[in-house]
Amino acid sequence: DLGKVGDELELPVYAVGGFVRDLLLGAENDDIDVSVEGDGILFAEAVATRMGCRVKSHAKFGTAVIVFPDGLKVDVASTRLEYYETPGALPTVERSSLKMDLYRRDFTINTLAVKLNAEGFGTLIDYFGAYRDLREKTIRVLHNLSFVEDPTRVFRAIRFEQRLGFPISRHTENLIKNAVKMGFLDKLGGRRLLNELVLILREREPVKAILRMSGLELLHFIHPDLALTSDTLRVLDEVKKVITWFELLYLGEKVETWVVYFLALTSSLPDEGFWGTCTRLSVSEHYREKLIDMRIQGEQVLEIMARRAGRREGVRCSDIYFWLRGLSPEVLLYIMAKTRSDEVRRYVSLYVTRLRSVVTHITGNDLKVLGIPSGPRYREILDQVLSARLNGEATTREDEMRIVRS
Ligand code: CTP
Repeated sequence: DLGKVGDELELPVYAVGGFVRDLLLGAENDDIDVSVEGDGILFAEAVATRMGCRVKSHAKFGTAVIVFPDGLKVDVASTRLEYYETPGALPTVERSSLKMDLYRRDFTINTLAVKLNAEGFGTLIDYFGAYRDLREKTIRVLHNLSFVEDPTRVFRAIRFEQRLGFPISRHTENLIKNAVKMGFLDKLGGRRLLNELVLILREREPVKAILRMSGLELLHFIHPDLALTSDTLRVLDEVKKVITWFELLYLGEKVETWVVYFLALTSSLPDEGFWGTCTRLSVSEHYREKLIDMRIQGEQVLEIMARRAGRREGVRCSDIYFWLRGLSPEVLLYIMAKTRSDEVRRYVSLYVTRLRSVVTHITGNDLKVLGIPSGPRYREILDQVLSARLNGEATTREDEMRIVRS
């Protein structure tokens, strides 16, 4: 129990921030933020020793993360920092109160604290009108320089607005517009911008947040040519639908939903624009290659399928299978969202729900037994057999063997 450790060390300990906000809203939040009036690292290490869990400390910032065996995470911050500027020098001690710690935060709704020590356990501490703002359902900054101090808060404001359904207060919105106009967002590093964008795209309803970003003229910070055209909006809305559809299939397959939204958001940019967006966002080289591949794969298959869908000669299940084989769920969902053809959408849906799990009875081993010399031929023969199975021309093992022999 965190409060008990605080009592033993005679340190006041509080649960703070998003955890308390979500507690009052009845929303789930597995990340507990704790603020210690004193040495938070000492506290975190004591907790870890008593409860048998791991701790990672950052002495310079006076912060630590306690990780419990069940995955629960507790972030610990100190309101008193003690660190050595240079080896051997006297420690620099910075004292500040819980109030100062909370004052440095982004929005009033994130400034609540709850005491965890036995004395006063559960007392709600509200210095900045957080409780009122939670009741009034509003996102409000604590002071006028909040977005200048940290421009990522512009994106955080939008994320909270959509997630909680709390409008950004008028004054706060004006401060955002001002920060945009004054160019404070230009200084935002690519990594930090990417991080915020991914958090937004991972939310349940990213489309509304993207509309809001567009309304506040934030998209061009991601790329000068990025704009919400009616087609981009159509694709984004479709992404929402296909992700819901996919989740309802309960395939137990993990999908990086943000990637699908990202591909959709940037779908109307030409290739250079897409590349430029990745560069602006400092996407790592490895991941950038991956994203570019996904986009190219999606576009290529879309083109092939669109060309074939309209024709009279029938599309066979094996065609669909080989067009889509090996594509990640993110690309499959992107294709479904991007296409304007119901027929193409049906192809992908058929592939996901049925075709991709079709396998042949026979294996390479059967070919070996038949004395066929191993090599690339194996793949061709097995694909031929698979085609027959997909198209309903073979059902049993004997059917398949007949195809091999012929
Ligand atoms: N914070 C801030 N400015 C930022 C990022 C964070 O002031 N740019 C503060 C917020 O007040 C927040 C706390 O640091 O309550 C912890 O940050 P984070 O874990 O990102 O926020 P949560 O509110 O827990 O958000 P989420 O529910 O998305 O995890």
